[in-house]
Amino acid sequence: MPTVLITGANRGLGLEFARQYAADGWTVIATARNPDAATELKATGAEVHPFESADPASLDALQATLGDRAIDVLIANAGMMGPQQFDRDGWAETLLTNAIAPTELALRLKDNVLASQQRKMIALSSVMGSITGNDSGGLTAYRSSKAALNAAWRSLSIDWKDSGLTLAMVHPGWVQTDMGGPSAQIDATTSVAGLRKVIAGLVPGDSGAFVDYQGNRLDW
Ligand SMILES: NC(=O)c1ccc[n+]([C@@H]2O[C@H](COP(=O)([O-])OP(=O)(O)OC[C@H]3O[C@@H](n4cnc5c(N)ncnc54)[C@H](OP(=O)(O)O)[C@@H]3O)[C@@H](O)[C@H]2O)c1
Repeated sequence: MPTVLITGANRGLGLEFARQYAADGWTVIATARNPDAATELKATGAEVHPFESADPASLDALQATLGDRAIDVLIANAGMMGPQQFDRDGWAETLLTNAIAPTELALRLKDNVLASQQRKMIALSSVMGSITGNDSGGLTAYRSSKAALNAAWRSLSIDWKDSGLTLAMVHPGWVQTDMGGPSAQIDATTSVAGLRKVIAGLVPGDSGAFVDYQGNRLDW
C-alpha cells in the first residue's frame, strides 16, 4: 500500500487525513508538535513523529528519521491563522509557518517522494491566498502567507517539471476545525474525502494547479 506523510496531523484536517488514509490501509506517517498528546492521531494507527515546522533542527530530525523511505503523497498541512491586525513578529511567524516551512519541507523530502510510485506533493493553501478572489479584505498575514505559498510551490512545480513529481496547492473549503470555527460550511470528513479524490486524480500534467476540494480550479 502507498505511504502518505501528513504534517500537523494531531487535530483538524491533518487528523482527518490520517484517519481516512489509515482506514484505506495506507501507511500513514504523521507529525505533531507534541506526539505524547496526540492521542486521537495515535488511535488511527499512524506512526507519529515530532515536527515543529518553524524549527530547522526539527526538520533535520524528521529527515533523519525518514532516511530514504519512499513517500507517495506528501501533505504539507500544518498552518496557522496568524494575527488579525498588523503585527510585525506575528506576520513573520505566519509567513515562516505557512509559506517558508512547507517549501523547505518539499525541497528536503523531494528524494523521498521521487522514490515512490505516486510522486505527489500537496500544500494546504486557501482561497484566502487568492489575490484576484480577495474582495473582502482583512487578514493580511494569513492571506499573504498563502499567496506566498502558492507562488513558491508554483515555482517548484515548474522547476521540477520533468522530474515526474506532481505538485498541487489545494483549498479545503471553509471547514469546521479550530481554525475554521463552528460556523464553517462543511465538516472535515467532507473536505478530506473531496481532497483525497482530487489528489488521487492528479496527473503530472496538473502539476502547479491551485484547486479546491471539489476539483474546481481557482484564480491566483
Ligand atoms: N479550516 C479551514 O476552513 C481552512 C480553510 C483553508 C485552508 N486551511 C488550511 O488547512 C490547513 C489545516 O487547517 P486546520 O483547519 O486543520 O487547522 P487547525 O485545526 O488549526 O490545525 C492546525 C494544525 O497545524 C499545526 N501547526 C500549526 N503551526 C505549526 C507549526 N509551527 N509546526 C508544526 N505544526 C503546526 C497544529 O499543531 P498544534 O496542535 O500543535 O497547534 C495543528 O495540528 C492549514 O494549512 C490551513 O491554513 C484551513
